[in-house]
Amino acid sequence: MRIYEVKNYEELSRKAADMIAAQIILKPDCVLGLATGSTPVGAYRELIKKYENGELDFSQVSSVNLDEYKGLSGENDQSYRYFMNHNLFDHVNIDKTRTHVPNGLEPDADKACADYNTLIGSMGGIDLQLLGIGGNGHIGFNEPCEEFICDTHCVSLAQSTIEANARFFDSIDEVPKFAYTMGIRNIMSAKKVLLLASGKNKAQAVYDSCFRPVTPHVPASVLQLHPDTVIIADSDALSLAKEKGVF
Ligand code: F6R
Repeated sequence: MRIYEVKNYEELSRKAADMIAAQIILKPDCVLGLATGSTPVGAYRELIKKYENGELDFSQVSSVNLDEYKGLSGENDQSYRYFMNHNLFDHVNIDKTRTHVPNGLEPDADKACADYNTLIGSMGGIDLQLLGIGGNGHIGFNEPCEEFICDTHCVSLAQSTIEANARFFDSIDEVPKFAYTMGIRNIMSAKKVLLLASGKNKAQAVYDSCFRPVTPHVPASVLQLHPDTVIIADSDALSLAKEKGVF
């Protein structure tokens, strides 16, 4: 994995957008794996700027998102479909029929997950997978556990993740307890992975994921085994690695 240190969130967002833009320019009909959460919002904003300046054309791009809450419709303003429309898709010339998020309204978890795996396969795989990282090292909703789960699956969210996500809901009771998420093999099968980490609250996760042994207890550590992973992290997110003298 290659790690690029940036000064702050603004620089991280610009660099991430440059890399995603490069992917679209190199392969206009690429498949982007996309993430929600607060980290990629700045990069999406930069991509919108590039589109508005006439530097980027999304017309042939397809996308698959990492995850979706089980039980939320795309119209719910806390769903990840809504997030993607609001933060990116509504502002660029992407064909929305080519943008995909797991179907949160499918109550049959096995069906929802099998359908999503089939879909990813039918798209020919992911060219560039964008990731954020949880404070506990989760990627997508792959939480720390005893073994890596390969394919799209239904997860019961960790209490720390429910608490971290509560800021987006009126009360913690409204945070869904289950989600559909791509599995580790879906992510590892992407040709390129771009993980973004910003802030001191990610310092432990970045240290454990990049500089400690690979373990399902720190799901992002598996990226050490991916042939083409780029991490863009700001100085705060790299602070523990620096303190330990490994970066
Ligand atoms: C989002 C996702 C999550 C987030 C992670 C970090 O689709 O899959 O793994 O990337 O929880 O979230 P933020 O960026 O809000 O710190």
